[in-house]
Amino acid sequence: MFIDTHCHLSKGDYDIDKLIDECKNNGVDTLIISGCDKKGINEGLEIIEKYANVYMTIGFHPSEVDTTTDEDLIWLEELIKKHKKIVGIGEIGLDYYWVKDNKEKQRLLFEKQLKLAEKLNMPIVIHSREATQETFDILKKYSLKGIIHCYSGSKEMAREYIKLGYYLGIGGVLTFKNSNLCDVVKEIPLESITLETDSPYLAPTPHRGEKNSPEYIPLIAEKIAEIKEKTIEEVGLITTNNACTLFDLKSHM
Ligand code: NI
Repeated sequence: MFIDTHCHLSKGDYDIDKLIDECKNNGVDTLIISGCDKKGINEGLEIIEKYANVYMTIGFHPSEVDTTTDEDLIWLEELIKKHKKIVGIGEIGLDYYWVKDNKEKQRLLFEKQLKLAEKLNMPIVIHSREATQETFDILKKYSLKGIIHCYSGSKEMAREYIKLGYYLGIGGVLTFKNSNLCDVVKEIPLESITLETDSPYLAPTPHRGEKNSPEYIPLIAEKIAEIKEKTIEEVGLITTNNACTLFDLKSHM
């Protein structure tokens, strides 16, 4: 009934057997993990091979810009061709908050991976921090589909992304007190929203500050249901459908 479209299970030291059970108990029956550095990708591959309901996106995060080579991108391409359960490229993008002294290199790595997505016809998962306009201007040049992961921009920007054909990834931040994401969610259709936890980061209220888990997805869905005056079931149904459509999950089973 729910899909967590973005979590990092390799980073949180999880008991994954237990976590998958708890997710199922909470109606979170599919997870898409994000491998965004070499270690995360290798660990993620083991997880998707073991668990039927876990898929993965892979790509080099902007924080990996200084160590990622062209050979690494070839490796990425080979993995995508080889592994059926890799469903997208990401998270990729620009981060001018943590790394700001190598903007040009970041843009280059980002665009190389966008070109790869184009070549392989894969959806993308975008990380954008303090680089909103620039990320948008780059994405405008490509005709790709994907998720703006952990969306935190304005209503206006949200509309622009939706026009381009992107979904907005909404996570635990929505449940924080005075979150301005509430206004964004009010404005945009459910048909443009995907649910995500970004575990182990950004746990929703009442777990804020603790280690996050995909099992908390219903807390985010509940908040969306409240804002949009829908039932939590409707939120589950539509956002699950959005994720299945974007990642074409049926063809990756
Ligand atoms: Ni992430």
